[in-house]
Amino acid sequence: MPNLKVLLSREQIQKRVTELGASISADFQGQPVVLIGVLKGATIFLSDLARNIALDATFDFISVASYGNEKQSSGEVRLNKDVDNSMERKNVILVEDILDTGLTMSYLVRMLAAHHPRALKIAALLDKASRRVLPIHADYVGFEIPDQFVVGYGMDAAERYRNLPDICVVEE
Ligand code: IMP
Ligand code: MG
Repeated sequence: MPNLKVLLSREQIQKRVTELGASISADFQGQPVVLIGVLKGATIFLSDLARNIALDATFDFISVASYGNEKQSSGEVRLNKDVDNSMERKNVILVEDILDTGLTMSYLVRMLAAHHPRALKIAALLDKASRRVLPIHADYVGFEIPDQFVVGYGMDAAERYRNLPDICVVEE
């Protein structure tokens, strides 16, 4: 049974998510946006972020799997569920839990760019910048964190712990 240590408290998360929502609201100046959540890890972040965006916002969801074991992506990304709607001429914000190696996001950006959106931005709650393999950066970052495996606030270890209100480090 792993030991869970709080890295980011629910209060810290809420404060930062409020700030991210305000930045997005200011940047898009009254234009509508589509928030695309990357299932399943981004669902809780998306639901909190959306409520802090003072714009006409719609939701879509995408699901990808990267081959490899639980904690290490192999770099090969497979699309499990595509977006429901065309993103042509839309202001798209890809909402992700963690930007790690960047392989998943690079794949999604390439895929969505083919829709010819009006804008394509990335909002990542967490950024493990030291782990980056591909040169991709998020436009909106909640927190930069060290190379530690985290769970909670949507993020899992083998599907568990997504419902923890705080973001915790797993200590084996
Ligand atoms: P990337 O393709 O390496 O950037 O992987 C990003 C995905 O790996 C994230 O969307 C997460 O689902 C998962 N991931 C990376 N680090 C962690 C972590 O510390 N905890 C839980 N999931 C993680
Ligand atoms: Mg994920």
